[in-house]
Amino acid sequence: MPDWNDIFTEQGRVFEEPHRDMTRLVELFRNRNVTRILDLGCGTGRHLVFLSRMGFEMYGFDASPRALSLARQWMDEEGLTADIRMHRMEEQFPYKDGFFDAVISIQVIHHNFMADILTTVSEVERIMRPGGILFISVPVMHTGPVEKEHDWDLQEVEHDTYIPHRGPESGIPHHYFTPTELTSVFRAFDLLELYIDETRHRCFLGLKK
Ligand SMILES: C[S@@+](CC[C@H](N)C(=O)[O-])C[C@H]1O[C@@H](n2cnc3c(N)ncnc32)[C@H](O)[C@@H]1O
Repeated sequence: MPDWNDIFTEQGRVFEEPHRDMTRLVELFRNRNVTRILDLGCGTGRHLVFLSRMGFEMYGFDASPRALSLARQWMDEEGLTADIRMHRMEEQFPYKDGFFDAVISIQVIHHNFMADILTTVSEVERIMRPGGILFISVPVMHTGPVEKEHDWDLQEVEHDTYIPHRGPESGIPHHYFTPTELTSVFRAFDLLELYIDETRHRCFLGLKK
C-alpha cells in the first residue's frame, strides 16, 4: 500500500508554493499577536519556510520521514530554523497545553478515520491558547465528470470516508467533510470563514474560544 512517504520519495517536494491565502493569513496573525505556529502535517515544508521567512516561530510535524528530511534540507538551504518532528496526528501531540498561538493544517486531517480525526481535533484544541487562530483545509468530493476523470476507484469504508484503489493516493483514507460537519467538529472555535479555495479544498478559519 503506497503512502505519502512513497509519494515524496518518488516526486520530491510535490508542493512548492504556499497556499494562496497564506499572505492574507500573515496579516491576521500579526494583527492578533501570533508568534508561535504549528504546521500540522507539514509535509516537505512549504509553509514552514514561508512563515519562518515572515518571522514566526515555527513548529511542524509529519508522519513521513522523507517529507521531514526534505523540509529540514529546505530550511537549511534558506538559513531558517524550526522545530520539526516525526509524529502521527492521531497520537497525543508532543506539546504543552495552550502552547500555540496558531495552528495551520493544509490538506492533512482528512487522511484518517473519524475516530482518529476526533482525537486530532481534541489535541489541536488542547495545544492552542484561547483566541488562537486555526486554519484547516480539506478536500471536497469531486462530482460528475471530474470524478470520472480521476477514476480513483473509491471504496466507502465508513460514512463519507473513502479509500482510493487507483491513482497516486491509492490505499490512503480520505474523509470528505460536509460544511456542517466541519463546523460541528471544530465547535471549540468561533467560525471566521468557511469557503472553497481555487484548488477545490474546503477551508475553515476560526478562533479558539
Ligand atoms: C497533501 S500532503 C500536505 C502536506 C503539507 N501540509 C502541505 O500543504 O504542503 C498530506 C500530508 O499529511 C501527512 N500525513 C498523512 N497522514 C498523517 C498522519 N497520520 N500523521 C501525520 N501526518 C500525516 C503526509 O505525510 C503528508 O505530508
